[in-house]
Parts: sequence; structure tokens; C-alpha cells
Amino acid sequence: MIVRTVLLAAAMAFAPVAFADTEAPEWVTEARQKSAQLGARLVDALREALVSRGPTGGVEACSIKAPQIAQQISNDRFEVGRTALRVRNPDNAPDDWETSVLQRFERGLSHGTDPAGLEEWQVETTDGGRVGRYMKAIPTGPQCVLCHGENIAPDLRETIQRLYPEDQATGFAPGELRGAFSVRVQLPATD
Ligand code: HEC
Repeated sequence: MIVRTVLLAAAMAFAPVAFADTEAPEWVTEARQKSAQLGARLVDALREALVSRGPTGGVEACSIKAPQIAQQISNDRFEVGRTALRVRNPDNAPDDWETSVLQRFERGLSHGTDPAGLEEWQVETTDGGRVGRYMKAIPTGPQCVLCHGENIAPDLRETIQRLYPEDQATGFAPGELRGAFSVRVQLPATD
């Protein structure tokens, strides 16, 4: 999978998605859909909170809703969430595989790879069976720097610090990697 990603990154300028699609097993297609669903629901929730309650209320709403929405989209087979190299919520901290994927995504983005094509998956065999792992990059958009950028308004910073005393998720600029969707899928013992 590492080799595949490197190849994918190299080939990205020419054929970003087609290559990945022809190879993807069914569970990856579903993991992609779950990631897209989580992303869309979060953007909606964020927009609604910002409009109705302003930035500070937005942080409070986000802190309650983000984990709730992730849980609603998860089910018996799929566990859907977000992670990053620098997290706001320590519950989102990456494990070893997620860390290495995030580092590759970061290198890909810094080399100009389109973030839409930055994804990786692998199958892990554990005592309990086989687990599919899927990740998709989340770039920092211009609307994200309000709460994740360099210059966060003092009252907003205060609210963030109160809710997340260990916050590491600031200092991002548009275009940088903010994090990734991460999906775990329970797979049958054999294909
Ligand atoms: C109103 C403030 C606010 C805005 C705007 C905002 N975020 Fe966040 N972000 C948060 C909060 C609060 C959390 C912690 C949520 C939780 O507890 O899971 C968070 C967590 C995250 C995480 C999970 C990893 C971590 O750091 O814990 C990612 C990824 C993320 N945000 C990406 C984005 C992106 C991409 C945008 C722009 C589209 C964005 N955020 C805009 C407040 C915000």
C-alpha cells in the first residue's frame, strides 16, 4: 500500500481517481461514502452553528455535535471518525498507522498533489478477525482558519482553551493538511 500511494502521488497529476477506483474493494467504496457523509454533515452543522450562534457558539456546538455525528454514521461494521497529526480533541489522536498515513498525505500535499486523490487503505489481521482501514485527507479551507488558523480572535481562543486545554490544532493555513477521515471496517475472516 505504501508503494501504491507513492505511485499514486507521482501519477496524481495525470490520473488521480481512476487508478484508485479500478482497484478498490467494495468495503473501500463504502468507507469513501461514509467519509463523504461525515464531511457533509459536519459542514452543515458548522454552518448552522456559525449562523445561529456565532464563532464562540460554533465551537461549543462543534464540540458536542462532531462526536455525535461521527457516532450516528458509524454502525456495527463501520467506525467513522477524524484524526490529525495535531489534534484539538485528544480522543481523535492518531495511532501508528494513521500517523504514517498522515505524514504521507502531508508530503503529497506539499508536492502539489490534489487532496481529493489523497487516500489510503489496508487490511489488518488481528486476534478478533480482519479489519479494513481507510483514510482520506482533509485539507484546511479558508473557512477553517477562523478556529484552526494563526490569528484566532481572543474570545474564541478562550472558549477553545476552556473546552480543549490540550488543543494543538491551531496555526494552519489554507491548503495545508488539517487532518483526515479515518474508517475501520470489520471484514469477514476471508474474502
Ligand atoms: C467554529 C470553530 C471551528 C471551525 C470554523 C472549524 N473547526 Fe474543526 N474543530 C473545531 C472543534 C471544536 C473541534 C473538536 C471537535 C471534537 O471534539 O471532535 C474540531 C476538530 C476538527 C478535526 C478533528 C481532529 C482534531 O483536531 O480533533 C478536524 C479534522 C477538523 N476540525 C477540521 C476542520 C476543517 C477542515 C474545517 C473547515 C472546513 C474546520 N475544522 C473548521 C472547531 C472548528
